[in-house]
Amino acid sequence: MTKILNSGFNRRDFIKTSTGAGLYVAASGYGSTFSDYALQRPVRIGFVGVGGRGMGILKVALTIEGVEIPVICDIVEERVARAQNLVQDAGQPKPKGYTGPEDYKKIAELNNLDAIYTATPIELHTPIMLAALRGGKYGGTEMPACTEYDQAWELVEASEKAGKPCMLMENYVYMRNVKMVLVMAQLGMFGALTHCECGYQHDARYAGFGPGGKLLWRALGGQTNNNPYPTHAIGPIAQWLNINRGNRFEYLVSMSSRAVGQNYYANKKFGPDNPAAKMKYAAGDVNTSLIQTHDGITITLYYDTKNPRPQDWIYRIQGTKGIYSGTLNKIYLEDISPKPDQWEPIDKYQEKYEHPLWKKYGLVAESSGHGGGDYLCFRDFVQAIRNQVQTPIDVYDTVTWSIITKLTEESVANKSRPVDFPDYTRGKWQTRKPATIDEI
Ligand SMILES: NC(=O)c1ccc[n+]([C@@H]2O[C@H](COP(=O)([O-])OP(=O)(O)OC[C@H]3O[C@@H](n4cnc5c(N)ncnc54)[C@H](O)[C@@H]3O)[C@@H](O)[C@H]2O)c1
Repeated sequence: MTKILNSGFNRRDFIKTSTGAGLYVAASGYGSTFSDYALQRPVRIGFVGVGGRGMGILKVALTIEGVEIPVICDIVEERVARAQNLVQDAGQPKPKGYTGPEDYKKIAELNNLDAIYTATPIELHTPIMLAALRGGKYGGTEMPACTEYDQAWELVEASEKAGKPCMLMENYVYMRNVKMVLVMAQLGMFGALTHCECGYQHDARYAGFGPGGKLLWRALGGQTNNNPYPTHAIGPIAQWLNINRGNRFEYLVSMSSRAVGQNYYANKKFGPDNPAAKMKYAAGDVNTSLIQTHDGITITLYYDTKNPRPQDWIYRIQGTKGIYSGTLNKIYLEDISPKPDQWEPIDKYQEKYEHPLWKKYGLVAESSGHGGGDYLCFRDFVQAIRNQVQTPIDVYDTVTWSIITKLTEESVANKSRPVDFPDYTRGKWQTRKPATIDEI
């Protein structure tokens, strides 16, 4: 079984009643029942939204043994047809196609599905996940899962009530060195942790504009001044720091720079008279936030996608015994690294500290997108469904990481005043246990 990473609840949390029904015990935070047997048949997943991302993940899903795709949904008919062909080419029956904007509600009620995965525009993630959970399905969503406080609470309540997980399909936490640093952090190699730094930083201006400068939903979504896409950056850090499992994000402060990058880009690409070149953008080009955790660890979180720049997720972890820098992909461990105060390559630690998932599936994963994260993330989702257990990224993680969008918006709008993180675990973070090494 895939280990239930950092979840604090796994197969040990299942107890059998005299009737044979599986009962999810209190440690999980769920009071309701999961099936007590692993699925003996294929894992059946419906896809909602098969644009760029959905199609990419569909290809990944079709490489995982025992996965069936009985349903495809998108409001663009040709995309449904293209995805249906892909599934048939993989030797599966033609999936039923749906094209209505609210057909996800019908799909959520189908009996021949175990889960719904969605890669739709952001504002649809919460309604689609709520429908899935309420229909008794596992939910897997692209990011962020929600952008409003009440949406986050609705997701938590729906997941708890249904006893079905809602997993943010956060592929970046599955990257090789992110996972290796997690193992090393869990083993105490960096000592007592003090600071982390991360960022979603790459030139994504191309994704905001269509032909002729037409604003696409990504650019339109940028009309709020915040960090609109925090989870690729914060996900790995949250796992390194055992957030929601003995530690929690307490509050953040956030500040945005001025907004000039998109005007500059649209002017250069489409000419000075194009509306995209002249419009006023609310979202600052670079958003910078500071997060304080309950344990007193600080985190710097960047969002920087509107200026030309090479990609850099930063992924720095700092403690009393050492530091790793994802920017340099180097490490320094006091009393272990060969030269005082000098970086060394992290690769030499791979043999000893490689994450079990990478040891097992690394060769296959490497060929998938986002540094292998796409494959391993989807595989973990499938494994949780197959074993009818909690997903490694649970609903509390899903909403805690996602809601940063809202918190940063509030802080930016109020001269960077501190904004508290809601405790979506309702206090359970204090008793939920960090993963042990054999669980990660
Ligand atoms: N995890 C990653 O690395 C990663 C990478 C790219 C995109 N994403 C995320 O994936 C999501 C989709 O991004 P994308 O680039 O594929 O966008 P996209 O525009 O290419 O695809 C979105 C699809 O959703 C469809 N859609 C819209 N409304 C719908 C509805 N009511 N019902 C069904 N389908 C509907 C659209 O027709 C389109 O095909 C976004 O949330 C994005 O943030 C994640």
